[in-house]
Amino acid sequence: MKEGKLQLAVFISGNGSNLQALIDACAAPDFPARIALVLSNRPGVFGVKRAKRAGIETALVDHKTFPTRAAFEQAIAKALEGRGIDLICLAGFMRILTADFLSQWAEQVINTHPSLLPRHGGPGMFGEHVHRAVLDSGDTQSGATIHYVIPEVDQGPVILQKTVPVLPGDTVETLAERVIAQEHKAYPEAVRMIAEKQRETS
Ligand code: GRF
Repeated sequence: MKEGKLQLAVFISGNGSNLQALIDACAAPDFPARIALVLSNRPGVFGVKRAKRAGIETALVDHKTFPTRAAFEQAIAKALEGRGIDLICLAGFMRILTADFLSQWAEQVINTHPSLLPRHGGPGMFGEHVHRAVLDSGDTQSGATIHYVIPEVDQGPVILQKTVPVLPGDTVETLAERVIAQEHKAYPEAVRMIAEKQRETS
């Protein structure tokens, strides 16, 4: 907690609209967190441009350049070192982190998922697969979930959820748009909740 603010590392693999929501939230002087690092596992993604535009340090750890998952995660650990990171925010990060890595960061890694977990989560449930599954299930509600990350994919404790209706005539695209707008609200709210809780206990 440098200068009373929770120090965040945001992990991305793509567009980074959730990263943008966090950047925008952190721009408010009274927001209790600051992004110390944006880490991408993919070169050239738009999220990295968003970070640079906001003057945030970035690191590229391209998983394709490492022979093993362990070597990839060691490189991530190295990139995080010495930055006083309090919380890792996965924001469209498309790699699964191992139990070994997560044990180094117990209760310090959170994620956003575009459904109301435990509905429509787990390995392979990302992006449009999630919204397709929601539409196929006949669920009348979907939403955004911010949760702690544990080795079991999408099964960690829920921090907060925001609900949206599934409307007649919805397509994957229309539902995705409604859900991601809620992720953009939920993620900064969750970070604020965690930061305020840590302030109380420190
Ligand atoms: C979000 O819907 C997130 O829940 C999922 O991937 C999407 C990332 O979007 N894991 P963006 O890169 O933040 O725009």
